[in-house]
Amino acid sequence: MSHPPPSPLSAGKARSLSGRVRVPGDKSISHRALMFGALATGRTHIAGLLEGEDVLNTAKALQALGCPVRKVGATWEVLGRGVGGLAEPVGDIDYGNSGTGLRLMMGLVAGHDIRVRFVGDASLSRRPMGRVLTPLRQMGLQIEEDGKDRLPLTVRGSADLLPIEYRPPVASAQIKSAVLIAGLHATGSTTVIEGQPTRDHTERMLRHFGAQVAISERDGSRAITVGGDGELEGRSVNVPGDPSSTAFLASAALIVPGSEIAIEGVLVNPTRTGFYVTLKEMGADIQFSNEREEGGEPVADILVRHSRLKGVRVPPERAPSMIDEYPVLACLAAYAEGETRMEGLSELKVKESDRLAATAAGLGANGVPARVEGETLIVSGVHGTARTVRGGGTVATHLDHRIAMAFLTLGLGADRPVTVDDADTIATSFPEFRGLMESLGASFAVPEGVR
Ligand code: S3P
Repeated sequence: MSHPPPSPLSAGKARSLSGRVRVPGDKSISHRALMFGALATGRTHIAGLLEGEDVLNTAKALQALGCPVRKVGATWEVLGRGVGGLAEPVGDIDYGNSGTGLRLMMGLVAGHDIRVRFVGDASLSRRPMGRVLTPLRQMGLQIEEDGKDRLPLTVRGSADLLPIEYRPPVASAQIKSAVLIAGLHATGSTTVIEGQPTRDHTERMLRHFGAQVAISERDGSRAITVGGDGELEGRSVNVPGDPSSTAFLASAALIVPGSEIAIEGVLVNPTRTGFYVTLKEMGADIQFSNEREEGGEPVADILVRHSRLKGVRVPPERAPSMIDEYPVLACLAAYAEGETRMEGLSELKVKESDRLAATAAGLGANGVPARVEGETLIVSGVHGTARTVRGGGTVATHLDHRIAMAFLTLGLGADRPVTVDDADTIATSFPEFRGLMESLGASFAVPEGVR
């Protein structure tokens, strides 16, 4: 297989950013809307679906499994096959870069008597799959490469899954969701018990599609139960703006003096807003307005003004609600006064890249003191020391979209441009990143010597 050459990109110091924008749809909700649409009877219409590569891979996977998915005008339409109605694909299912798509799809395939071989890109092929295969195996999924934890993997599902009660060993919405989705196909009720709450889009959307979902408290943990053998009904879904994509725009406005931007229609589900809580603690001028509910999810417009920030301690229990925002928070912390300590980040090591190492290395390459101590990332802000971010470094992105976007954001305030070695990966979650940033006043360039 030949790969296109990487595309480096640089971000230079910006003058004030301003404007009112919308960000594309939330990635987590987009994957789920397609998958639940496929398991429902009847048609599902999805407005605002994220058209990033990760989500398009879920659309392609469903098509390969015999479920028609197509775009009609501005809306995506899924012709549901009903719970248990998917068919064996002819070739491999290539999930590209998407861990969420792959892990949730494994839960879905588990409930069908079909054989599927999953493959992915170099990043996805390095990531652990045992965390979903362990509970799915207990339910009846067979894995041909028994004991193997990494792609490529061939699995065979079963139309007679066993219901289980499962406590994921790490806080992960992906594990929870894979088990609950498989549970829809089991004979009896399946329960996931999570010690730390994780994003709850699966629970909310299953209810929206008419499934029986019971949520209760058990010894301080959250127990989520789905009934097996239920039916889902096709629905309309409006996907709100992605708060994880919004984090880059908000950070850019906080970094660049004189900026004021508004982002409309952003998902503000409390299981996703840890980043915004942290910004307020850092002294950011950030306001939520026009708070409303759309399709079972809370949504708001977000106004951000450039602010003088101070370093803070981000506690470990906040990690699940901002797990994808640490790289950009670390870049923002570079512009704050004093030290920012981000604790409890072991899960960052198994994202699209080892984000703990990649973030610390990228900051170091641009003159920002940063270090990893165990599961803690510590960044020393420039205010109070050098008073400026030097920049001038090239950051290794390791096929990680969020590392690429975080460091382009860092460059908007740095003395010398910050270069990322490959900006193509951004298309996995936020293809509009460059265009939207430029519409606000940021500028990016292909570094000299690269065509
Ligand atoms: C996601 C859950 C998170 C997150 C990922 C999307 C989801 O992963 O990092 O980008 O949609 O369920 P974990 O739940 O494994 O932490």
